[in-house]
Amino acid sequence: MSKKYNVIDLFCGCGGLSQGFIEADYNVILGIDHWKDAIETFNYNHKNSKGIVADLLNLDPQEIKTRYAIENVDLIVGGPPCQGFSIAGKRIIDDERNQLYKSFLRFVDYFKPKGFVMENVPNILSMGNGAVKSQILKDFKDIGYKINYNKLLASDFAVPQNRRRAFFVGLKNSLEFEFPKPITTDNKITSEEAISDLPKDSLEDGCQYTINPKSVFQREMRNGNKVVFNHQITNHSEKTVEIIGMVPDGGNYKDLPKELHETRKVNIAWTRLNSKKPSFTIDTGHRHHFHYEFNRVPTVRESARIQSFRDEFIFCGSKTSQYKQVGNAVPPLLAKEIALKIKNYL
Ligand SMILES: C[S@@+](CC[C@H](N)C(=O)[O-])C[C@H]1O[C@@H](n2cnc3c(N)ncnc32)[C@H](O)[C@@H]1O
Repeated sequence: MSKKYNVIDLFCGCGGLSQGFIEADYNVILGIDHWKDAIETFNYNHKNSKGIVADLLNLDPQEIKTRYAIENVDLIVGGPPCQGFSIAGKRIIDDERNQLYKSFLRFVDYFKPKGFVMENVPNILSMGNGAVKSQILKDFKDIGYKINYNKLLASDFAVPQNRRRAFFVGLKNSLEFEFPKPITTDNKITSEEAISDLPKDSLEDGCQYTINPKSVFQREMRNGNKVVFNHQITNHSEKTVEIIGMVPDGGNYKDLPKELHETRKVNIAWTRLNSKKPSFTIDTGHRHHFHYEFNRVPTVRESARIQSFRDEFIFCGSKTSQYKQVGNAVPPLLAKEIALKIKNYL
């Protein structure tokens, strides 16, 4: 039997990133996040891991090591929120907004794993004309890691979504990490292939599927599962249903009569999925993106499919919270590709 590598997931959310590593046969020993609902989901779905609710801002890695009797950490993964990196000249300063990134750095420095994966929004690479990126490379070099970074497009890795994310992979052994090559460039999974087997109306949690899977992707997401969770539809106002009813598959507000263009003052308003293409980046529940066919926003389960969560992965908390957990996550199938690749370097 091959050795299972131990992973800690920081800022783990519901555990999309962890899920990818688990599917690649890693042992995720710990997930940490300060969001109770997300940790409830994490623990529900990752029975062999321990998700803990804690604020990473001031968390001491030594305390975590002692309290959870952690012996050996091979990898640290995670996506510290870095929306507002503040920099002075070419340096990330010790500003409040940077402390979460610094926490990630502190954990890596303390546990000294064989490697780490840090995920973030793509524009982290261009922030401050590249100053943020340079500082990240330097900070980790100073504690002994060689970083390779790249932007990956989820739809290149069998995820039905054009979501782009930046990944920094650091290795202690100084090897050059080569990112996985795209596997679905000409045969991207479409939103129809992702969700066309899920019905227009709500299903009570635990109900059986109403029809057979219609695509290979759907079969894969069902994975032998027999019942559906998190498929409760949103009931929109009559006016909303009427307006979105005028937008065709793949269309947006530009397809509406001129006088309706201004009904929602954001340019992503009244956007429908395109059934023949991967989805755009799903959101955390702002209700501007609609199903390609039905006059409603996708359900949590449909959103989870678009993120490549298998149907057996169940989301806890309120519906609002579930949307946010799904929308925040790293698509498990994308995470899995990275996880498989890193194994060659450990
Ligand atoms: C982008 S999400 C992570 C998604 C996760 N990697 C996944 O794949 O599901 C960022 C997470 O950071 C968490 N977070 C933000 N500030 C935090 C803090 N001070 N301590 C712990 N977690 C924090 C949020 O609750 C959120 O779940």
